[in-house]
Amino acid sequence: MIGATRWRFRSVGSTQDVTFALAAKGANHGTVVRADYQTAGRGRLGRSWQAPIGTALTFSTLLRPTFATHELGPLSIRIAAVLADAFTALGANDVSIKWPNDVLIGGRKTSGILVQTRTMPELVVVVGIGINLSDSPEGATNLQQAIDSPVSADHVLDVICSGLDPMWTNWQPELNVDEVRAIEDRLWLRGEQVTLLDADREITGTIAGISPDGGLRLLTDGTERLLHVGEITRGPRLIIPGK
Ligand code: BTN
Repeated sequence: MIGATRWRFRSVGSTQDVTFALAAKGANHGTVVRADYQTAGRGRLGRSWQAPIGTALTFSTLLRPTFATHELGPLSIRIAAVLADAFTALGANDVSIKWPNDVLIGGRKTSGILVQTRTMPELVVVVGIGINLSDSPEGATNLQQAIDSPVSADHVLDVICSGLDPMWTNWQPELNVDEVRAIEDRLWLRGEQVTLLDADREITGTIAGISPDGGLRLLTDGTERLLHVGEITRGPRLIIPGK
């Protein structure tokens, strides 16, 4: 059961590292590691993730798959869908999913997800989730602001764990038609022109939707491309003279 075992620390480097360390010592599937503050919180694409103490819900969850890595394709987007449903249930409006796994409220980032895997020697997955509760960096938002009332981190964590658990128990390696539709209904900038950036390319196109394996379907010059890594920005590529 996800969240049946919960650790809470006042301050750690990153809950990801603590969770991998507990996994190495045999911690159970579903163990949740929460920290009030992280001195070295990590984000996607090598970025850092920081929040002032007591203003965010930051935790990692240990998953021990009984299936192969390639069956985990839709994990990030499914977790984003669980968070989006949780925020809606907590009273937020205009909740969207920015592919691959940010959750936005009113078009502003509220939450980020970091999925990391290791072979120890069995496959271990650590899902890190950071949610702005009562403060947020410039350009982002937080749950309290969105629902206009104080939120309890314990309650938010309970709601999320009760969404993650059935997601995992009923795991299928591909999204079904209903899941695809539900995610596409919430997909940020669907039908709009975006630029997808990854380490070595920039692709401009129109978001058509997502694929059953959680990839992004992008229409470029009349051709649909399926993409699995990268970061979306709104609009066409900016060409900066001299760069
Ligand atoms: C992102 O938006 O790039 C992902 C952010 C993930 C942050 C969470 S906070 C809890 C867990 N521990 C970390 O070091 N990172 C994740």
